[in-house]
Amino acid sequence: MNILLIGSGGREHALAWKMGQSPSLPRLYCAPGNAGIGEIAELVPIKATDLDALLTFAREQSIDLTVVGPEQPLTQGIVDLFESNGLKIFGPSKAAAKIEGSKIFAKTFMKKYSIPTAEFRTFNVSQRFDAERYINEIPVPIVIKADGLATGKGVTVCETKEQALEVLELMMDKKVFGEAGTNVVIEEFLVGEEASVFAITDGKDFVTLAPAQDHKRILDNDQGKNTGGMGAYAPTPIVDDEMLSKIKRTIIRPTLLGLAKEGHPYKGCLYVGLMITQTGPKVVEFNCRFGDPETQVVLPLLENDLVRLMLDAIEGRLSKTKIVMKKKTSICVVIASGGYPDEYQTGKQIIGLDAVSSEPDVIVLHAGTKKEKDNIVTAGGRVLGVTALGAQDDLEGTIDKAYRAVEKITFDGAYYRSDIGKKGVDYLKRLQRVEVQ
Ligand code: AMP
Ligand code: GLY
Repeated sequence: MNILLIGSGGREHALAWKMGQSPSLPRLYCAPGNAGIGEIAELVPIKATDLDALLTFAREQSIDLTVVGPEQPLTQGIVDLFESNGLKIFGPSKAAAKIEGSKIFAKTFMKKYSIPTAEFRTFNVSQRFDAERYINEIPVPIVIKADGLATGKGVTVCETKEQALEVLELMMDKKVFGEAGTNVVIEEFLVGEEASVFAITDGKDFVTLAPAQDHKRILDNDQGKNTGGMGAYAPTPIVDDEMLSKIKRTIIRPTLLGLAKEGHPYKGCLYVGLMITQTGPKVVEFNCRFGDPETQVVLPLLENDLVRLMLDAIEGRLSKTKIVMKKKTSICVVIASGGYPDEYQTGKQIIGLDAVSSEPDVIVLHAGTKKEKDNIVTAGGRVLGVTALGAQDDLEGTIDKAYRAVEKITFDGAYYRSDIGKKGVDYLKRLQRVEVQ
């Protein structure tokens, strides 16, 4: 079987790593990939957004299955294009991918189908003054979101009304996110613990993988700017079985039913970004793809053959699928280039990869890396993700294992958070205290 994977980050390395273990022994291609993916797949120098070139490649190489990592090609309509050419592809159609591509669409959809989410209002460019008035009426903190895709930077949590008005001006007048930010969602700030759940769906039936928790801010203790994600762990105790059942019943099922009813059945991986609040789970965002870095902790826990699972989703066979997750815990620490998420340098030689390659239960997943002669050098903001697996009841030990490996890898300006997984450890300690009382 020939598989084409699209994308070049840590998520894609995790997808390639897991698909590479499939009993179907696939031949893997990845466009454009990175140095780590290049060890297990043939790299193809085509950009993830160049749909025509990807289609030509898939036809010429008789690709049996295409798997899309990032959101851009999905919102551009790669699934529609490939399917109309008779090619199998894992992901949602352009219309269904709008659940990530337009926050106004997602919020309006959630309201229509009574899916729990933060209270909000939407404003288009001609409603600039209504937006200002709304900001003056509601309590702080206020969350302002650009409608369109803004590479994870389109959301600001504003602590004061002045800041909210400034953000509005930046988005609507100064167009810092271009057209993506001229229309906005202004919403209530939700208090609680964040978690992410992946639902793999064929448009009708779905299965969920282990719930994870991401760490989006650049600095320890969730301080500093938002990033693409600085680390994750799974399964998170914040979403226990009872909570997961509630999320399926009140969020995932009505979302899939609603999208089908709207004429856009959703196939692929639906990423449900949640806030677990005092009044139950609420949707912070939907993504139309696997999350990064959550994939780097969730897939190493998955027993099922991922290739089979994706084909079952494409071919509408998920009603018979049973997901088995390993009874283990996993954590991923992202090593980033100094300066990220702002400007950073690239081309720095990475040292120490060999030292960890043979460590049991440690997987180094590449994100922004490339091969230069015999060296592997940095080529992006998030450079590597180091995933460690450990016993199910030993999150603390697994965290230590990951950091021991992280400390062996270095490059000029390397930066990582030192508290990945701590929120899970603290949560478990709080639970134990409540149980003792
Ligand atoms: P998003 O891109 O919508 O996931 O937002 C990025 C991050 O901003 C989220 O991961 C949350 O940490 C935070 N955020 C977004 N919306 C809210 C909200 N309504 N209340 C609290 N935090 C939020
Ligand atoms: N981890 C957040 C995302 O994938 O969007």
